[in-house]
Amino acid sequence: MGKSKRTLGLLALCFLLGFCGCADKQETGSETHPEAGVTGEAGATHTPAGNVSPEQSPTAGGTAEPSGAAAPTGTTEPSGAAAPTGTTEPTGTAAPIATQKPTATPKPAVTAAPQKPTETPKPSRPTTGQTPTSALTLTPTQGVKLGTSLYKRYEGYFYFGTCVSASYLNNSKVTELLLEQFNSITCENEMKPDALLNQYQCQSQGKVVVTVPSNTKKILDWAKKNGLKVRGHVLVWYSQTPDWFFREGFRSDGALVSREEMLSRMESYIKQVLNYCDTNYPGMFYAWDVVNEAFTDDGTGYRDCNWYKILGEDYITEAFRFARKYASSGTKLFYNDFNTYINYSDKIKTTRICNLVKELKKENLIDGVGMQAHLDVSYPSADDFVKTVTTFSNLGVEVQITELDVTTTASAAGWKQQGEYLDRIFSALEKNDRTGVCNLTSVSVWGIADSYSWRASQDPLLFDDNLKPKAAYYSVLQQ
Ligand code: G3I
Repeated sequence: MGKSKRTLGLLALCFLLGFCGCADKQETGSETHPEAGVTGEAGATHTPAGNVSPEQSPTAGGTAEPSGAAAPTGTTEPSGAAAPTGTTEPTGTAAPIATQKPTATPKPAVTAAPQKPTETPKPSRPTTGQTPTSALTLTPTQGVKLGTSLYKRYEGYFYFGTCVSASYLNNSKVTELLLEQFNSITCENEMKPDALLNQYQCQSQGKVVVTVPSNTKKILDWAKKNGLKVRGHVLVWYSQTPDWFFREGFRSDGALVSREEMLSRMESYIKQVLNYCDTNYPGMFYAWDVVNEAFTDDGTGYRDCNWYKILGEDYITEAFRFARKYASSGTKLFYNDFNTYINYSDKIKTTRICNLVKELKKENLIDGVGMQAHLDVSYPSADDFVKTVTTFSNLGVEVQITELDVTTTASAAGWKQQGEYLDRIFSALEKNDRTGVCNLTSVSVWGIADSYSWRASQDPLLFDDNLKPKAAYYSVLQQ
């Protein structure tokens, strides 16, 4: 990734100013995605994710008092402004940095032993015996030695992961940092339906054909070789799923298929993907996001999409039925979404997800809720976020924080604020998980370092552009 962040920042600022000028049109949820109009394989056009109407949007600046507040920073990420992390080649090295860019926070206690929880870990917690010893033997000359690591800090309590794109693996400094800090990974884009579905193959064979591209194999083989665990992301999603997949003859200009045909395609797709993973990487996938983002941004209803159009509301249940049928017993099934902490007035995303979980649990179809957690320092409050983790846990399911990032201003003050915000969240989460108040089994950040993020201009991650730890890192580490 070229260091065009400063330019991106300016663009984002211009965009933000533009947004302010037409705020009631553009205010969106703090996690409105930039993927509107993504074109996938063979020219498939995906349903835009953005452009939610203002009444669908969460308001920011508070927890219980949402009205009248300004939109959170995270809402203003312009479409296309975020660097596409999956395709460009990040260097992760000495990219030029804007002069006002804050430097990584010096932390005196980096070599101190992590304050491990003393309680006996609950038996259901993941074990990390597969973690390679190479992760423990990095030398300071590699520039990434921190003296401790995220996964070791939380070992016995929850996995600590990050998303990875294939290009990460071309940079040895990045892979060293990955192995030092994380024991779980998620493919950022490489296991999404538009990566695994091949239109030509589907058309020529007249059936659903899953083909696993070399970039996907590259990540999975690397994870296997290094003993990392993997979160599967994602089986059924409205986005990054080719439009032709829903059409007759797998043709881009075909009519939408019948309910019966779509259920058959859904089953075939889920079966092939899960079987492929089990056969080639047995025991490596500990969780799968079965359905992603089925509800509108604020939870006022079901998101309109091809799955919903053809199958109706129960596409979610059907997906979980197929996933349960074909997943190995060690693979936990998750519903994954963003803005999961919204629950006020008619904006009832938390309640909607809770109701879905209760329904799915009746058939033993679900194991957990994935809270994406694309946050901003101004929204939601740390308290509301942490409470929501407990709300889902109280349903008797696991909770995994699946895509954590926290946007802030690219400044020393912004980084400090980000550190303080994450400190509030992790001091509570660490305590709640340790004392059984919540059932957190995995936390993943959405990217290794700021410049790799889909929201790169807002410095949302734990490591800076030179792979140095920020205040945010130490806050998560709780040191
Ligand atoms: O594949 C094309 C490539 O052919 C083309 O040359 C290139 C040009 O920019 O674009 C490539 O596609 C990009 C894709 O990432 C792969 O790199 C898209 O433009 C880009 O929009 C896409 O962004 C991804 C986004 O999902 C799309 O939905 C982000 O990297 C990824 O971080 C993001 O992840 C999602 C989670 O899956 C679900 N939760 C929200 C999260 C953030 O949107």
